[in-house]
Amino acid sequence: MEHLKDWNKSSWQKYPALQQPNWPDEEQYNQVLQTIAKLPPLVFAGEIRDLKAQLAQAVRGEAFLLQGGDCSEEFSRCTAPNIRETLKVLLQMAVILTYAGGKPVVKVGRIAGQYAKPRSSDTEIVNGEEIPSYRGDMANSVEPVAEARIPDPTRMLQGYNMAAATLNLLRAFTRGGFGSLHRVQAWNQEFVRQSPMGRSYERLAKQINQALRFMDTIGIPTDTPQLKQVQFFTSHEALFLGYEEALTREDSVDGGWYDCSAHMLWIGDRTRQIDGAHIEFLRGVLNPLGMKVGPKHDIDEILAIIEKLNPDNEPGRMTLITRFGAKDIEKYLPPLLRAVKRAGLNVLWSCDPMHANTFSAESGHKTRDFEKILSELRCFFELHWAEGTVPGGVHFELTGDNVTECIGGARKLSDEQLSQNYQTTCDPRLNAEQSLEMAFQIAEMIRS
Ligand code: PEP
Ligand code: CO
Repeated sequence: MEHLKDWNKSSWQKYPALQQPNWPDEEQYNQVLQTIAKLPPLVFAGEIRDLKAQLAQAVRGEAFLLQGGDCSEEFSRCTAPNIRETLKVLLQMAVILTYAGGKPVVKVGRIAGQYAKPRSSDTEIVNGEEIPSYRGDMANSVEPVAEARIPDPTRMLQGYNMAAATLNLLRAFTRGGFGSLHRVQAWNQEFVRQSPMGRSYERLAKQINQALRFMDTIGIPTDTPQLKQVQFFTSHEALFLGYEEALTREDSVDGGWYDCSAHMLWIGDRTRQIDGAHIEFLRGVLNPLGMKVGPKHDIDEILAIIEKLNPDNEPGRMTLITRFGAKDIEKYLPPLLRAVKRAGLNVLWSCDPMHANTFSAESGHKTRDFEKILSELRCFFELHWAEGTVPGGVHFELTGDNVTECIGGARKLSDEQLSQNYQTTCDPRLNAEQSLEMAFQIAEMIRS
């Protein structure tokens, strides 16, 4: 760890940090962070190492990464039903990908800490008044009035508590039988069951049940942890560096530093400057890291960042999450694949088909078209096959609820229907049915 001699969990403070809230009261801000720094870590370094090992398998094409959840989690939606429905749809997708796609799936939620958002502008105009932008529930309130938009550091403490409560329930569900393969049919939701996707899922679940019964009959134990428990990991964008620093702890097992706010952290497309504070902070923590790469990138800089974050070229450490848009992926992905391959860098390639396919519908809603999302995914797979690289994962914004935020899909959700149940405070998410449909399509791509 020679290269980390000049790193410590505060060394990022000497570098410019973009996208930080303007906390009005520095003393209060520091006090909150000191409080968080004394609280227990949210995850354990051993779990983080486990995830890294699983991601290393995905680099080699022996596993597949499924990462997904809300664009922005909200404190007011930190409830048992919401957590359960998000977990359910991710487990359903994972079963589809494992069974129909034939690969073990590494399950990572955008959950239990996804409370901080980068914004394109510091302020926005609401009813003619300029007010601070919403930067996620860990900074301010989404309510469009100036007062509510003033960043409040106690929200970080609240975020820590919400993340702990969410993680606690996720652990209970995944270890306590809810995630058991014996319950694969029970994960299907009422409102999805009658749909074409719900029925396809039901058929697949029946086949799994038959296989389990058969194993039972011939005396193969079906109450093993492999069948009764599921490993589920958490992730969020590492954005507010004070918060991330406060949860960064030295592991007593290997002496390394881990950001124990989540298992995996990613760097947003807007904060990945090679000389910036985010890269400085993340180079020193041993978690698996994601990095978003959008159309505005410089290939040499991307290579230099990867080398800075992963100087030992350890597989599983770096996941490149490309988000070029259906229109531009053919232009941007192949040169990047070639450059990374030529440099011999071990990275896991994942596709975020959401963030560069956003547009405003006529109704004014921010939306995404199912067909465009699917089209970027298809291109992602085809371009990898053409280059001889491994398409190893996907990254979605989705929810288990029956929302109407993205148009298209089997039900052909239209512009006019967006207002029926448009819930997101940030980016539009796939609903449960659209998520299952996506999973069936990806499973076919993985298998071929
Ligand atoms: C996000 O994942 O919600 C996000 C802001 O993405 P990006 O950094 O790719 O724009
Ligand atoms: Co988003």
